[in-house]
Amino acid sequence: MSIFYPKQVHIVEVGPRDGLQNEKQAIDTSIKVALIEKLTEAGVQYVESGSFVNPKWVPQMAGSEAVFTELTRVKGVTYAALTPNLQGFERALSVHVDEVAIFAAASETFSQKNINCSIAESISRFEPVIAAASEHNIPVRGYISCVAGCPYEGDIASEAVAKVAAQLSAMGCYEVSLGDTIGTGSAGSVSAMLDKVISAVPADKLAVHFHDTYGQALTNIFVALQKGISVIDSSVAGLGGCPYAKGASGNVATEDVVYMLNGLNIHTGINLDKLIDAGNFISAALGRDNQSKVARALISKR
Ligand code: HMG
Ligand code: MG
Repeated sequence: MSIFYPKQVHIVEVGPRDGLQNEKQAIDTSIKVALIEKLTEAGVQYVESGSFVNPKWVPQMAGSEAVFTELTRVKGVTYAALTPNLQGFERALSVHVDEVAIFAAASETFSQKNINCSIAESISRFEPVIAAASEHNIPVRGYISCVAGCPYEGDIASEAVAKVAAQLSAMGCYEVSLGDTIGTGSAGSVSAMLDKVISAVPADKLAVHFHDTYGQALTNIFVALQKGISVIDSSVAGLGGCPYAKGASGNVATEDVVYMLNGLNIHTGINLDKLIDAGNFISAALGRDNQSKVARALISKR
């Protein structure tokens, strides 16, 4: 049986948000801005650049207004941010964010820990955000956390993921990103979960967001590509983790995803060498090794 892959994949770079939100050390706005600018120099077309959440909950993202104000925007690039409620949306609007994302969960306990309300309450809380965004012609992306397991509840039923995906899609999210927050999914479970979700929301309205805690992210992305999903969230240098998912490591490294896609002749528009420079820059600024295996291998040959 032949397998068809998309000719083109859209990379949603989440490093400056998902990657940095969990960092304990203070990171200067100028470093965040330089990272975003290096990513766009490498050809990244979509950068999740900040988050307008309660700064007491996620102090690292408190300066997101400054990031958006100080960065030099490249025409054609989308600079996006998380907005959990109307207050967050208004902050985002004040600094001309191009797109916003709301974030729900497929696990009740995670929803409570992450955004302090039930799944149903979160959906009602997102309604005014979507209405306000629509009034300002700002597209809204939706996230679902814990699609392949929850740090508090363990296994999560695919039906629960499909239900939230259908709700987010019906309320106006142009795309729903499926988050394996703790990276426990593997090819078999992810394949079954995706089949269930795709029966509720078509593959061309879905994205995948794998954290690489168990080293399964690339394989899971490969499965998602085979099911017709062509939007992949990733984080340069494998930065990241969620503050409300203890032990969750970074997102799959963008360098590793681009290398795999290059090998499949799938176009991303991203220059791998320049992307590695961006990853090296932020790894050095944070004082740690680059978590991308591809970056480490290619750097050793430089
Ligand atoms: P809450 O405490 O229920 O909100 O928080 P509230 O409406 O009761 O307000 C309480 C206080 O928060 C008030 O201030 C508000 O002004 C303030 P006070 O009167 O106490 O001084 N507040 C805000 N301040 C600034 N910006 C705002 C805002 N909203 C309220 N937008 C809330 C609810 C959702 C805000 C809170 O729970 C929160 O900020 N959570 C942050 C969660 C988060 O950022 N998690 C990480 C991102 S999600 C993720 O990483 C997963 C993902 O990557 C996918 C995956 O991997 O699974 C997307
Ligand atoms: Mg995440």
